[in-house]
Amino acid sequence: MGFPIDRPRRLRRTETLRRMVRETRLSPDNLIQPLFVCPGKDVARPVPSMPGVAQMSVDRIIAAAREIHAAGVPAVILFGIPERKDARGSEAWNDSGEVQRAIRGIKEHAPGLAVLTDVCMCEYTDHGHCGVLKDGDVDNDATLEVLAREALSHARAGADIVAPSDMMDGRVGAIRRALDENGFTQVAIMAYAAKFASAFYGPFRDAAESTPRFGDRRSYQMDPPNGNEAIREVALDLEEGADIVMVKPALAYLDLIYRVKHDFMVPVAAYNVSGEYAMIRAAGLNGWIDEERAVMEVLTSIRRAGADMILTYFATDVARRLSA
Ligand code: PBG
Repeated sequence: MGFPIDRPRRLRRTETLRRMVRETRLSPDNLIQPLFVCPGKDVARPVPSMPGVAQMSVDRIIAAAREIHAAGVPAVILFGIPERKDARGSEAWNDSGEVQRAIRGIKEHAPGLAVLTDVCMCEYTDHGHCGVLKDGDVDNDATLEVLAREALSHARAGADIVAPSDMMDGRVGAIRRALDENGFTQVAIMAYAAKFASAFYGPFRDAAESTPRFGDRRSYQMDPPNGNEAIREVALDLEEGADIVMVKPALAYLDLIYRVKHDFMVPVAAYNVSGEYAMIRAAGLNGWIDEERAVMEVLTSIRRAGADMILTYFATDVARRLSA
């Protein structure tokens, strides 16, 4: 065969034909909207490096959640910015903390929306690292206990899915045990399984006020060149009881989204992170690219690689456009 019999252009001739042979679809069902919960009342503080994203107080979060749900997005993931920070990050498991109150409020006012919570210490510790420190580094095993407490507090408030993003070894198992021992066998775990020490988290750290005071996260987050190690991280998290595994960031790691989906055949999430958002928004606002098309192309590529779910700051806008 081959040319002149084969002419792939035949099926590209009209939008109708293109629609009929389109292999990958992006639906609002695939999207998860991240939200930043801060103290106060009626607060919406824009994040300078993420135009269109703001930290919001619980009342504003609840209003936003209703709109997100109305736009057809099935889920939000909450990040907390606490009133006080300390060495152990103890606000993380305060049952009346920002995230916990936001969960209860969303469950009351937008009950159909699934609520995920980011489980990590970096927003809550005064040093900004993702766990408890010992001799200038994060103490893995001591951190497991505080992460389990945080996850349990989120579960008590009504979270559907807890999502540990700290990258400690053994944290999925520790959280699963704590949830089960306390009657939360139905709360699922989305593990940030292959999370890399990435330059693309910069804007998020402005949004979450979680930049480490010293050093970096390379002793716990993965080294970007490592693909096989990512597969091993995913295998370990699944053995420990993860229900959904995540690859993060998305765009520089599409190969790993593909490998994880094919090797494990479990629900796979990908995080289209803050730096990926900021790049597209900045170029769009400057008129350098067509933002709407770029966003659709990028999110569709993450789906094509194999992600079932995409955490993205574009979620609500895209869902509105998809159902318009
Ligand atoms: C917390 C956490 C981070 C992100 C999600 N959870 C930042 C980090 O590890 O420094 C990044 C999300 C984004 O960049 O959009 N550990």
